[in-house]
Amino acid sequence: MIIFKDEIYHKTLIFILLTIYIVQQASGQDQKIIRPGELWPDKQGNHIQAHGGGIVKIKDTYYWYGEQRSRGLDTAYRYVSCYASKDLIHWDFEGNALQLSDPENLGHRWVLERPKVFYNQRTKNYVMYFHLDDARYAFARVGVAISKKPQGPFRYVKSFRPLDRESRDIGQFIDDDGTAYLIFESRPTKGFFIAQLSTDYLTVEKEVCLINAPLEGGALVHYRGLYYVIGSALTGWSPNPNQYATAKTLEGPWSEFKDIAPPETNTYQSQSTMMLKVEGTKDTCVIFMADQWRPKQQWDSRYLWMPLKIGQGKLWLPKPQPWTLNVKTGETKPL
Ligand code: DGJ
Repeated sequence: MIIFKDEIYHKTLIFILLTIYIVQQASGQDQKIIRPGELWPDKQGNHIQAHGGGIVKIKDTYYWYGEQRSRGLDTAYRYVSCYASKDLIHWDFEGNALQLSDPENLGHRWVLERPKVFYNQRTKNYVMYFHLDDARYAFARVGVAISKKPQGPFRYVKSFRPLDRESRDIGQFIDDDGTAYLIFESRPTKGFFIAQLSTDYLTVEKEVCLINAPLEGGALVHYRGLYYVIGSALTGWSPNPNQYATAKTLEGPWSEFKDIAPPETNTYQSQSTMMLKVEGTKDTCVIFMADQWRPKQQWDSRYLWMPLKIGQGKLWLPKPQPWTLNVKTGETKPL
Protein backbone atom coordinates (compact mmCIF):
# COMPACT_ATOMS: atom_id res chain seq x y z
CA MET A 1 0.00 0.00 0.00
CA ILE A 2 2.78 2.40 1.04
CA ILE A 3 4.71 1.53 -2.12
CA PHE A 4 1.62 2.31 -4.21
CA LYS A 5 1.26 5.75 -2.61
CA ASP A 6 4.94 6.44 -3.22
CA GLU A 7 4.55 5.57 -6.87
CA ILE A 8 1.63 7.95 -7.29
CA TYR A 9 3.60 10.65 -5.50
CA HIS A 10 6.61 10.19 -7.79
CA LYS A 11 4.54 10.08 -10.95
CA THR A 12 2.69 13.25 -9.92
CA LEU A 13 5.98 15.00 -9.17
CA ILE A 14 7.44 14.00 -12.53
CA PHE A 15 4.27 15.18 -14.26
CA ILE A 16 4.42 18.58 -12.50
CA LEU A 17 8.12 19.05 -13.28
CA LEU A 18 7.58 18.06 -16.90
CA THR A 19 4.67 20.51 -17.22
CA ILE A 20 6.79 23.33 -15.75
CA TYR A 21 9.60 22.45 -18.19
CA ILE A 22 7.26 22.44 -21.20
CA VAL A 23 5.65 25.77 -20.20
CA GLN A 24 9.09 27.35 -19.69
CA GLN A 25 10.29 26.06 -23.06
CA ALA A 26 7.19 27.42 -24.76
CA SER A 27 7.54 30.86 -23.19
CA GLY A 28 11.28 30.92 -23.85
CA GLN A 29 11.84 31.95 -20.23
CA ASP A 30 14.66 29.56 -19.49
CA GLN A 31 16.41 29.92 -22.80
CA LYS A 32 19.45 32.12 -22.68
CA ILE A 33 19.13 33.42 -26.20
CA ILE A 34 19.45 36.94 -27.57
CA ARG A 35 17.69 37.42 -30.87
CA PRO A 36 18.93 40.58 -32.62
CA GLY A 37 16.22 42.57 -34.37
CA GLU A 38 13.30 40.55 -33.01
CA LEU A 39 10.68 41.57 -30.49
CA TRP A 40 12.30 41.32 -27.06
CA PRO A 41 9.68 40.64 -24.40
CA ASP A 42 10.41 41.58 -20.79
CA LYS A 43 9.41 39.18 -18.00
CA GLN A 44 5.94 40.71 -18.07
CA GLY A 45 5.61 39.83 -21.76
CA ASN A 46 5.85 43.35 -23.25
CA HIS A 47 8.41 44.40 -25.85
CA ILE A 48 11.24 46.14 -23.98
CA GLN A 49 11.08 49.93 -24.20
CA ALA A 50 14.64 51.08 -23.59
CA HIS A 51 15.60 52.79 -26.82
CA GLY A 52 18.86 54.73 -27.18
CA GLY A 53 19.70 53.20 -23.84
CA GLY A 54 22.54 52.43 -21.54
CA ILE A 55 23.38 49.84 -18.91
CA VAL A 56 24.91 50.09 -15.47
CA LYS A 57 25.88 47.10 -13.31
CA ILE A 58 25.30 47.27 -9.55
CA LYS A 59 26.65 44.22 -7.71
CA ASP A 60 25.26 41.31 -9.75
CA THR A 61 22.34 43.21 -11.29
CA TYR A 62 22.32 45.00 -14.61
CA TYR A 63 20.01 48.00 -15.00
CA TRP A 64 18.99 48.98 -18.50
CA TYR A 65 17.65 52.52 -18.96
CA GLY A 66 16.26 53.92 -22.17
CA GLU A 67 13.62 55.93 -23.94
CA GLN A 68 10.18 54.67 -22.99
CA ARG A 69 8.15 54.95 -26.19
CA SER A 70 5.08 52.81 -25.50
CA ARG A 71 1.84 53.77 -27.14
CA GLY A 72 -0.85 55.53 -25.12
CA LEU A 73 1.40 57.45 -22.74
CA ASP A 74 0.49 61.00 -21.70
CA THR A 75 2.25 63.07 -24.38
CA ALA A 76 2.83 65.94 -21.94
CA TYR A 77 5.58 63.84 -20.37
CA ARG A 78 8.77 62.11 -21.47
CA TYR A 79 9.66 58.85 -19.76
CA VAL A 80 12.81 56.91 -19.04
CA SER A 81 12.26 53.22 -18.39
CA CYS A 82 14.27 50.98 -16.09
CA TYR A 83 14.73 47.22 -16.46
CA ALA A 84 16.69 44.86 -14.20
CA SER A 85 18.39 41.58 -15.05
CA LYS A 86 21.04 39.25 -13.75
CA ASP A 87 21.78 37.56 -17.07
CA LEU A 88 21.30 40.41 -19.60
CA ILE A 89 18.62 38.34 -21.32
CA HIS A 90 15.59 38.16 -19.04
CA TRP A 91 14.53 41.65 -17.98
CA ASP A 92 12.12 42.76 -15.28
CA PHE A 93 10.36 46.02 -15.98
CA GLU A 94 11.03 48.14 -12.89
CA GLY A 95 8.76 50.96 -14.05
CA ASN A 96 9.49 54.39 -15.45
CA ALA A 97 12.44 55.71 -13.48
CA LEU A 98 11.83 59.24 -14.75
CA GLN A 99 8.57 60.89 -15.73
CA LEU A 100 9.25 64.46 -16.70
CA SER A 101 7.14 67.34 -17.96
CA ASP A 102 8.81 70.00 -20.11
CA PRO A 103 11.49 71.19 -17.67
CA GLU A 104 12.83 74.21 -19.58
CA ASN A 105 9.87 75.61 -21.45
CA LEU A 106 10.94 73.92 -24.65
CA GLY A 107 7.52 73.69 -26.24
CA HIS A 108 5.09 71.06 -27.38
CA ARG A 109 7.40 68.60 -29.16
CA TRP A 110 10.33 68.77 -26.77
CA VAL A 111 12.85 65.96 -26.81
CA LEU A 112 14.37 63.66 -24.21
CA GLU A 113 16.71 61.09 -25.78
CA ARG A 114 19.47 58.61 -25.01
CA PRO A 115 19.30 58.52 -21.19
CA LYS A 116 22.34 57.13 -19.37
CA VAL A 117 22.70 56.43 -15.65
CA PHE A 118 25.88 56.47 -13.55
CA TYR A 119 26.13 55.32 -9.94
CA ASN A 120 28.21 57.55 -7.70
CA GLN A 121 29.85 55.55 -4.90
CA ARG A 122 30.66 58.65 -2.86
CA THR A 123 27.24 60.32 -2.78
CA LYS A 124 25.27 57.06 -3.25
CA ASN A 125 23.32 58.86 -5.95
CA TYR A 126 22.17 57.43 -9.24
CA VAL A 127 22.82 60.24 -11.70
CA MET A 128 20.95 60.27 -14.99
CA TYR A 129 22.08 62.24 -18.04
CA PHE A 130 19.96 62.67 -21.14
CA HIS A 131 19.85 64.71 -24.31
CA LEU A 132 17.37 67.51 -23.73
CA ASP A 133 16.12 69.50 -26.68
CA ASP A 134 13.34 71.39 -28.40
CA ALA A 135 11.63 70.22 -31.57
CA ARG A 136 14.28 71.91 -33.74
CA TYR A 137 17.17 70.33 -31.84
CA ALA A 138 18.48 73.85 -31.17
CA PHE A 139 18.54 73.81 -27.35
CA ALA A 140 21.26 71.11 -27.51
CA ARG A 141 21.88 70.49 -23.82
CA VAL A 142 22.14 67.65 -21.34
CA GLY A 143 19.55 67.23 -18.60
CA VAL A 144 20.52 65.78 -15.22
CA ALA A 145 18.29 63.93 -12.76
CA ILE A 146 19.14 62.04 -9.56
CA SER A 147 17.72 59.26 -7.43
CA LYS A 148 18.72 57.28 -4.35
CA LYS A 149 17.38 54.10 -5.91
CA PRO A 150 18.19 52.57 -9.31
CA GLN A 151 14.55 52.28 -10.29
CA GLY A 152 13.84 55.90 -9.35
CA PRO A 153 11.90 58.05 -9.04
CA PHE A 154 14.55 60.36 -10.48
CA ARG A 155 14.24 64.07 -9.69
CA TYR A 156 15.16 66.61 -12.36
CA VAL A 157 18.07 68.79 -11.24
CA LYS A 158 19.18 70.99 -14.12
CA SER A 159 20.28 71.29 -17.73
CA PHE A 160 23.55 72.60 -19.11
CA ARG A 161 25.89 72.57 -22.08
CA PRO A 162 28.88 70.41 -21.19
CA LEU A 163 32.14 72.35 -21.62
CA ASP A 164 29.84 75.13 -22.87
CA ARG A 165 29.36 73.20 -26.11
CA GLU A 166 26.25 72.20 -27.97
CA SER A 167 25.45 68.63 -26.98
CA ARG A 168 23.10 66.23 -28.75
CA ASP A 169 23.61 62.44 -28.72
CA ILE A 170 25.26 61.33 -25.50
CA GLY A 171 27.02 58.13 -24.49
CA GLN A 172 28.45 56.87 -21.22
CA PHE A 173 31.74 55.25 -20.37
CA ILE A 174 33.17 53.96 -17.10
CA ASP A 175 36.82 53.03 -17.31
CA ASP A 176 38.35 50.03 -15.54
CA ASP A 177 39.62 52.34 -12.78
CA GLY A 178 36.02 53.50 -12.14
CA THR A 179 36.37 56.98 -13.69
CA ALA A 180 33.15 58.10 -15.36
CA TYR A 181 32.97 59.90 -18.68
CA LEU A 182 30.28 61.49 -20.78
CA ILE A 183 30.55 61.29 -24.54
CA PHE A 184 28.67 63.99 -26.41
CA GLU A 185 28.28 64.99 -30.01
CA SER A 186 29.12 68.59 -30.75
CA ARG A 187 28.09 69.69 -34.20
CA PRO A 188 29.85 73.06 -34.50
CA THR A 189 33.20 71.39 -33.77
CA LYS A 190 32.34 68.51 -36.12
CA GLY A 191 33.22 65.84 -33.64
CA PHE A 192 32.48 64.32 -30.32
CA PHE A 193 33.92 65.00 -26.91
CA ILE A 194 34.99 62.62 -24.20
CA ALA A 195 34.60 64.55 -20.95
CA GLN A 196 35.29 63.44 -17.39
CA LEU A 197 32.48 63.84 -14.88
CA SER A 198 33.01 65.79 -11.65
CA THR A 199 33.42 63.82 -8.41
CA ASP A 200 29.70 64.11 -7.64
CA TYR A 201 28.87 63.36 -11.32
CA LEU A 202 26.56 66.37 -11.44
CA THR A 203 28.62 68.20 -14.00
CA VAL A 204 31.37 67.71 -16.53
CA GLU A 205 34.75 68.53 -15.08
CA LYS A 206 37.23 68.43 -17.90
CA GLU A 207 37.68 67.81 -21.57
CA VAL A 208 39.64 64.64 -22.16
CA CYS A 209 39.52 64.59 -25.93
CA LEU A 210 37.73 65.94 -28.95
CA ILE A 211 37.57 63.25 -31.59
CA ASN A 212 37.49 65.07 -34.87
CA ALA A 213 34.89 63.04 -36.70
CA PRO A 214 31.33 64.16 -37.37
CA LEU A 215 29.77 61.16 -35.65
CA GLU A 216 26.98 60.57 -33.12
CA GLY A 217 25.69 57.58 -31.15
CA GLY A 218 29.11 57.54 -29.45
CA ALA A 219 30.10 54.30 -27.67
CA LEU A 220 33.39 53.51 -25.99
CA VAL A 221 35.07 50.45 -24.49
CA HIS A 222 38.44 49.68 -22.92
CA TYR A 223 39.51 46.24 -24.04
CA ARG A 224 42.86 44.57 -23.46
CA GLY A 225 44.88 47.75 -23.17
CA LEU A 226 43.24 49.65 -26.02
CA TYR A 227 40.32 52.06 -26.26
CA TYR A 228 37.80 51.48 -29.05
CA VAL A 229 35.21 54.07 -29.98
CA ILE A 230 32.22 53.61 -32.30
CA GLY A 231 30.09 56.32 -33.86
CA SER A 232 27.45 56.65 -36.53
CA ALA A 233 27.14 59.25 -39.27
CA LEU A 234 24.61 62.08 -38.91
CA THR A 235 21.66 60.73 -40.87
CA GLY A 236 18.76 61.27 -38.47
CA TRP A 237 16.79 58.08 -37.83
CA SER A 238 18.13 56.39 -40.97
CA PRO A 239 20.89 53.85 -40.47
CA ASN A 240 24.36 54.33 -41.91
CA PRO A 241 27.72 52.53 -41.80
CA ASN A 242 28.94 52.95 -38.21
CA GLN A 243 32.67 53.26 -37.80
CA TYR A 244 35.35 52.70 -35.17
CA ALA A 245 38.72 54.06 -34.16
CA THR A 246 41.27 53.06 -31.51
CA ALA A 247 43.71 54.78 -29.17
CA LYS A 248 46.16 53.78 -26.47
CA THR A 249 44.91 56.53 -24.18
CA LEU A 250 41.58 58.34 -24.04
CA GLU A 251 43.39 61.58 -24.92
CA GLY A 252 44.43 60.03 -28.23
CA PRO A 253 45.85 60.18 -30.78
CA TRP A 254 42.97 58.21 -32.31
CA SER A 255 43.42 56.09 -35.40
CA GLU A 256 41.46 56.81 -38.54
CA PHE A 257 37.87 55.51 -38.60
CA LYS A 258 36.99 52.24 -40.31
CA ASP A 259 33.71 50.42 -40.95
CA ILE A 260 32.49 48.00 -38.30
CA ALA A 261 30.41 46.00 -40.79
CA PRO A 262 29.98 45.75 -44.58
CA PRO A 263 28.98 49.35 -45.41
CA GLU A 264 26.14 48.28 -47.73
CA THR A 265 24.31 46.76 -44.72
CA ASN A 266 24.18 50.14 -42.96
CA THR A 267 25.30 48.40 -39.77
CA TYR A 268 22.55 45.85 -40.37
CA GLN A 269 20.00 48.71 -40.18
CA SER A 270 21.14 49.80 -36.75
CA GLN A 271 22.78 52.66 -34.86
CA SER A 272 25.19 52.32 -31.94
CA THR A 273 24.20 53.29 -28.42
CA MET A 274 26.74 51.52 -26.20
CA MET A 275 29.41 48.85 -25.94
CA LEU A 276 29.05 46.65 -22.88
CA LYS A 277 32.03 44.69 -21.59
CA VAL A 278 31.16 41.45 -19.77
CA GLU A 279 34.11 40.05 -17.87
CA GLY A 280 33.52 36.42 -16.92
CA THR A 281 35.53 33.65 -15.34
CA LYS A 282 36.58 32.23 -18.72
CA ASP A 283 36.30 35.03 -21.23
CA THR A 284 35.55 38.71 -21.73
CA CYS A 285 33.04 39.70 -24.36
CA VAL A 286 32.06 43.10 -25.68
CA ILE A 287 28.45 43.48 -26.72
CA PHE A 288 27.54 45.98 -29.43
CA MET A 289 24.23 47.50 -28.35
CA ALA A 290 22.38 49.29 -31.12
CA ASP A 291 18.92 50.53 -32.05
CA GLN A 292 17.01 49.60 -35.15
CA TRP A 293 14.81 52.67 -35.24
CA ARG A 294 11.27 52.68 -36.58
CA PRO A 295 10.64 56.42 -36.51
CA LYS A 296 6.97 56.18 -37.50
CA GLN A 297 6.29 53.56 -34.82
CA GLN A 298 9.00 54.06 -32.27
CA TRP A 299 7.40 51.65 -29.77
CA ASP A 300 8.27 48.89 -32.22
CA SER A 301 11.93 49.89 -32.66
CA ARG A 302 14.20 46.89 -32.17
CA TYR A 303 17.54 46.17 -30.56
CA LEU A 304 20.55 44.75 -32.28
CA TRP A 305 22.84 43.22 -29.69
CA MET A 306 25.78 41.17 -30.91
CA PRO A 307 29.10 40.12 -29.42
CA LEU A 308 31.85 41.95 -31.28
CA LYS A 309 34.93 40.41 -32.79
CA ILE A 310 37.44 42.64 -31.10
CA GLY A 311 41.14 42.69 -30.30
CA GLN A 312 44.57 43.89 -31.38
CA GLY A 313 43.20 47.09 -32.79
CA LYS A 314 40.48 45.47 -34.90
CA LEU A 315 36.73 45.50 -34.34
CA TRP A 316 34.07 43.78 -36.41
CA LEU A 317 30.33 43.32 -36.03
CA PRO A 318 29.41 39.79 -37.18
CA LYS A 319 26.26 39.25 -39.19
CA PRO A 320 23.39 39.27 -36.68
CA GLN A 321 22.03 35.89 -35.66
CA PRO A 322 20.61 34.46 -32.42
CA TRP A 323 23.30 33.81 -29.81
CA THR A 324 23.73 32.68 -26.25
CA LEU A 325 25.47 34.48 -23.45
CA ASN A 326 26.74 33.27 -20.11
CA VAL A 327 27.40 36.35 -17.96
CA LYS A 328 29.20 34.27 -15.34
CA THR A 329 31.81 32.85 -17.70
CA GLY A 330 31.69 35.67 -20.26
CA GLU A 331 31.27 33.12 -23.03
CA THR A 332 29.08 33.67 -26.08
CA LYS A 333 28.02 31.23 -28.76
CA PRO A 334 26.16 31.72 -32.05
CA LEU A 335 23.19 29.38 -32.46
C1 DGJ B 1 19.95 60.51 -34.54
C2 DGJ B 1 20.18 60.34 -33.08
O1 DGJ B 1 21.16 59.39 -32.86
C3 DGJ B 1 18.88 59.94 -32.40
O2 DGJ B 1 19.11 59.79 -31.03
C4 DGJ B 1 17.88 61.01 -32.70
O3 DGJ B 1 18.30 62.22 -32.14
C5 DGJ B 1 17.71 61.16 -34.19
N1 DGJ B 1 18.98 61.50 -34.80
C6 DGJ B 1 16.71 62.24 -34.52
O4 DGJ B 1 16.66 62.43 -35.90
